[in-house]
Amino acid sequence: MCGIIGYIGSRQAQPILLNCLGRLEYRGYDSCGIAVSEHGINVCKDAIRVEALKKTMPRLNGTAGIGHTRWATHGAPSLINAHPHLDCSGKIAVVHNGIITNYQKLRDQLTGEGHQFVSETDTEVIPHLIEKYYHGNLETAVAAALNDIEGSYAIIVLATDEPKLVAARKDSPIIISLGDRENFIASDVPAILDYSNRVVYLEDGDIGVITTDSIKVSRRGSEVATKVHQISWTVEDAQKAGYEHFMLKEIHEQPKVIRDTLAGWVSGEALEDLATMWADDINALLILACGTSYHAALIGKQMGQELLKIPVRAELASEFNYSTQLLDRTLAIAITQSGETADTLKAMKKLKEVGCQTLAITNVVGSTASRIADRTLYTRAGPEISVAATKSFTAQLMVLYQLMMAHPEIGARKLNSMTKELRQLPNKVQQVLDNEGETAQYAQELSRYENIFYIGRGINFPVALEGALKLKEISYIHGEGYAAGELKHGPFALLGSDTPVIALLAPDDTYEPMLTNIKEVKARGSAIIALTREGDEDIEKIADKVLTVPQVEAIFSPVVNTVALQLLAYYAARERDCPIDFPRNLAKSVTVE
Ligand code: M6R
Repeated sequence: MCGIIGYIGSRQAQPILLNCLGRLEYRGYDSCGIAVSEHGINVCKDAIRVEALKKTMPRLNGTAGIGHTRWATHGAPSLINAHPHLDCSGKIAVVHNGIITNYQKLRDQLTGEGHQFVSETDTEVIPHLIEKYYHGNLETAVAAALNDIEGSYAIIVLATDEPKLVAARKDSPIIISLGDRENFIASDVPAILDYSNRVVYLEDGDIGVITTDSIKVSRRGSEVATKVHQISWTVEDAQKAGYEHFMLKEIHEQPKVIRDTLAGWVSGEALEDLATMWADDINALLILACGTSYHAALIGKQMGQELLKIPVRAELASEFNYSTQLLDRTLAIAITQSGETADTLKAMKKLKEVGCQTLAITNVVGSTASRIADRTLYTRAGPEISVAATKSFTAQLMVLYQLMMAHPEIGARKLNSMTKELRQLPNKVQQVLDNEGETAQYAQELSRYENIFYIGRGINFPVALEGALKLKEISYIHGEGYAAGELKHGPFALLGSDTPVIALLAPDDTYEPMLTNIKEVKARGSAIIALTREGDEDIEKIADKVLTVPQVEAIFSPVVNTVALQLLAYYAARERDCPIDFPRNLAKSVTVE
């Protein structure tokens, strides 16, 4: 949710911290701040974006510092609540991502002991606890403070008296990155790509200490060997490359993302490996995820039911955590772009506890999900910076197709015909992108409405949900995704000339019932925008507007349909002048429940 960064080295910390914070802003952007140490700690922070902070802040000298971009949980966005937070002496500064659940009790205790608090945040108890336990050794004091703390955290601590940074994590991600005569600590990889691609992942309970020339990681009081991972993402991957927004760039990257995620399949290397996911005793699937990844899970459910003829459930991870399920001989698949979504991780841990086989589908190598799961399949989407998930969703679908196709029950004929279709998908998606101008025109018209329904059936019902989520998330128009057959059971009351309906069609047995539903909607005065395949003449006579996508087998229609809906949402948001990459109140990586 929040982004944290720490730097220590031979260069001035301030410009480096600010640059890294700019790269981390997608994790939270209601406030930001940095603290730099040189003969004392200087803090500069406010409830503003990083660019504004850069322009307004004074020069802070020092070669060690920490920084934070905030997504408020405890206390509104304000200068006082922005991080870093200090102890009473002003000698210890802390940045934190996570939630301290027992902070009120700790705050009361510390207040009784004479500590004075200035913010409404849970975080502020951390520097005060460290101050309480500090007797000349920062690492020991941090460890003692963490013993008192309940909840989740990734923290970085800076102290005037020691030329080092100390980091710790529990249920929130954190990495150490190695440079040349400088080292970094960060919430995640895009933050440090300008400086290094060598990374060490901390585990829950670890305490990391970095100086200019060294890194050290301790677990339960003993130093452990560190494994350095080489990151394949480049700085360019995490830049806009001339596009107005990251979201537009990421939408346009999808043909490449599909090719990259399918590379192993097309070369024939992936089939054998994927087939091993299907152990003999697996006879049911449970797919868990949140948000857009949940919509991929729902599409995976449809794929699995159609192709494998085994029971497949798709569940919201946040709801699964409160349910009891029959999990006998079930493969549990967790889909998460970031690999850090708290609800999804909690569900995975629950599944592991009951002995379920777990498979993570994630975009981030070394993410927590990949370390919890028994097996991991990586999407090859590259860093996704825009808060709205686009290319990661398409990549998730690609992994799901391959996984289902690797099931031993799929016949050779089906396998061959689907592989042929898969190979054509990058070009088909490119054709959707080539139709951007027309889609943008439709979006302009739609941008003046306050409510828009998206309807679909079968495998395109989750696409309706995804189209609506994208719209509401970035344009602030109320988009409502609905199963087309369900409209008459209530939502018809909302239809009329001020509520257009976007109908998603596919060449399968949902087509005819969709036509009926579209006619019912028209009869209630709503304009119909149909999203359908090229050459669909029947719909021309009924719909008010028709947006076409290239012909694909119905099972692949979610890919082309979703890309068109991403563009529609993007251009509607652009027309309304919304901050597309950083929508209000949201953050890219949701590391709190
Ligand atoms: O990293 P994850 O895939 O686990 O994230 C899940 C959701 O938070 C995410 O998909 C969210 O819904 C997106 N902002 C939607 O565009």
